[in-house]
Amino acid sequence: MVTKTHRQAFGLKILNANHPRIRQLKRDGKVAEIHGNKFWNSSYLIMDYLKKNPLPKRSRVLEIGCGWGLLGLYCAKQFGNKVHGIDADENVLPYLDLHAEMNRLKMSGEKKTFKQLTVNYLSNFDVVMGADICFWDEMGHELYNLMGRAKKAGVKQIMVSDPCRPPFSELAVKCDENLDDVELVEKFLKRPVNASGEILIVRH
Ligand SMILES: C[S@@+](CC[C@H](N)C(=O)[O-])C[C@H]1O[C@@H](n2cnc3c(N)ncnc32)[C@H](O)[C@@H]1O
Repeated sequence: MVTKTHRQAFGLKILNANHPRIRQLKRDGKVAEIHGNKFWNSSYLIMDYLKKNPLPKRSRVLEIGCGWGLLGLYCAKQFGNKVHGIDADENVLPYLDLHAEMNRLKMSGEKKTFKQLTVNYLSNFDVVMGADICFWDEMGHELYNLMGRAKKAGVKQIMVSDPCRPPFSELAVKCDENLDDVELVEKFLKRPVNASGEILIVRH
């Protein structure tokens, strides 16, 4: 029997845990510490939304809590966007680099937390997105504050997807009550996997 070491979804090659290069990274001690140890399905929700609502090519995209960076890589592949990823955990970055290499795409990445994204830093981007990045209460507070800084920085659109864990739903309510242009998109996917949740979209 041949065991598959990768899967293909939304035009991207996504490596499985048994892929030799993933196993090598783990042996090298690149072990993610804040749930960035795999690719999470909430990224598919934004990919599916973007398929019908494409970004302009000129958009500069920042993926926050990027983990393996596949959402950013999707934007690079489908729309030719310039993409950058940040994550609090530096151990995820080699997995981002590996997926960029495997998909022959460019995406830069660096270690940074949500709190460290200043107005000045955010002014380099048009779109900020993140999948499955709101699973603790403090993350909801940090992301809400980040939205205020993003507005000052001139970011046009922020998208956060989630399987609707309580901190995310609380963030969505807070945004809806306090910010001007907020949309909550429900998603139910059957392919490439069963995945459901919501995308919080804040526009400026
Ligand atoms: C559940 S994983 C999701 C990873 C990726 N977005 C995906 O969909 O596959 C959450 C990611 O957020 C990162 N993270 C957690 N807290 C963070 C913070 N305060 N600032 C930046 N990244 C953070 C973790 O290191 C992890 O990579």
